[in-house]
Amino acid sequence: MSNVIAVVNHKGGTGKTTTAINLAAGLTRYSDVTSSCLLIDMDPHGCATSTLLGKLDGEPPARSVFDVLRRAITPQDGITSTIYDENIDILPANPSLESMAKTQIHDRLSKVVASLSTSYGWIIIDTPPDLGVLTQNALVAADYALIPTQCNGLAVPALRQMMTVIERIQERQNMWLQLLGVLITMKDGRTPLQKNVRKELGNIFPAQDIFKTIITTNIKIEEAPANFQSIYAYDSGCLGASLYRDWIKKEFLKKHQKLEKKKVERREAVEAGAIEEEE
Ligand SMILES: Nc1ncnc2c1ncn2[C@@H]1O[C@H](COP(=O)(O)OP(=O)(O)OP(=O)(O)O)[C@@H](O)[C@H]1O
Ligand SMILES: [Mg+2]
Repeated sequence: MSNVIAVVNHKGGTGKTTTAINLAAGLTRYSDVTSSCLLIDMDPHGCATSTLLGKLDGEPPARSVFDVLRRAITPQDGITSTIYDENIDILPANPSLESMAKTQIHDRLSKVVASLSTSYGWIIIDTPPDLGVLTQNALVAADYALIPTQCNGLAVPALRQMMTVIERIQERQNMWLQLLGVLITMKDGRTPLQKNVRKELGNIFPAQDIFKTIITTNIKIEEAPANFQSIYAYDSGCLGASLYRDWIKKEFLKKHQKLEKKKVERREAVEAGAIEEEE
C-alpha cells in the first residue's frame, strides 16, 4: 500500500492544515487500512504541531522533523505521541525548519518516510504556503498530492502553478507521485460556486480530479483546533464533521483505491520493461 499524502497549495490559508489534521483523524476512524497515522509537519509555523501536541504557546518541541532532516536524530526518535488522537503520532515542526528552506536538499524527507512507512497505515504531510524546498521534499516523499483550495478567481492561478510543480516532480524526482485530487474548502454555504471559476478549474483539472464534496465555512471547524480536537471529536454531529466524514468515506477512500490499482498496473508495466523507471 502507498499511503503517503502531501497536502499542498502554495497559496496561504486554503485549509491545508485543517484538512491534514481532520483527514488524519478521519482515516483512523473510517479507513480499513491499519488505523495508525503519522502526521509530518513540514511548516515551520507548526500549526498542526500546536494542535496535535496541545500547545498554542510556549517552547517549540525539543525534537522535531528539523533534527531528523539534519540527521541529528533518527526518524523514530523525532516522533511524539499526541493528545489529539491516540492513534495519531506526529513528527513535529520547529521554527528552525525555516533554515532548511535555504538548502538544496530536495529528497531527504523521502528517506525519512521510507524508514517509517511500515510502522503506520497512513502518513500525512502538512506543508507551508510556498513552493520551496520544504514543499518539494514533501512531494518527492509522497505517493499522493492533495490540494485544498478556495474556489475564487484569486485561487485559480496558484493551482495552475501548483500543477506545473507536481508535473516537474513527477518527471524528474518521483515518477510514482499521483494527484489524489482538489478539495474545495472554506466556501460560503449561502452562495453558489461562481460558474466562471468552476470552468477555469475544469480547464486545469479533469473532472475526476475535483472532489464533488465541498467543505463550506463552518465555525466548528475553526474552533476544534483551539480545543486540540478533530472535528469529529469536537462535535461529531456538526455540518463540518459530516462534510469531512462524507468526503473521506464516499470520495477520498474510493479515489485512493482506484489510484492504488493504477499504480500496481504501472509497476507491472515497469517490471515488464514497457515503461522506463527513473534512476
Ligand atoms: N471550513 C472552514 N470553516 C471555517 N474556518 C476554516 C475552515 N477551514 C479552515 N478554516 C480556518 O481558516 C484558517 C486557515 O486554515 P488553515 O490553517 O487550515 O489553512 P492553511 O492552508 O494551512 O494556511 P497556511 O497556508 O497559512 O498554512 C484557520 O484559522 C482555520 O481554522
Ligand atoms: Mg497550514
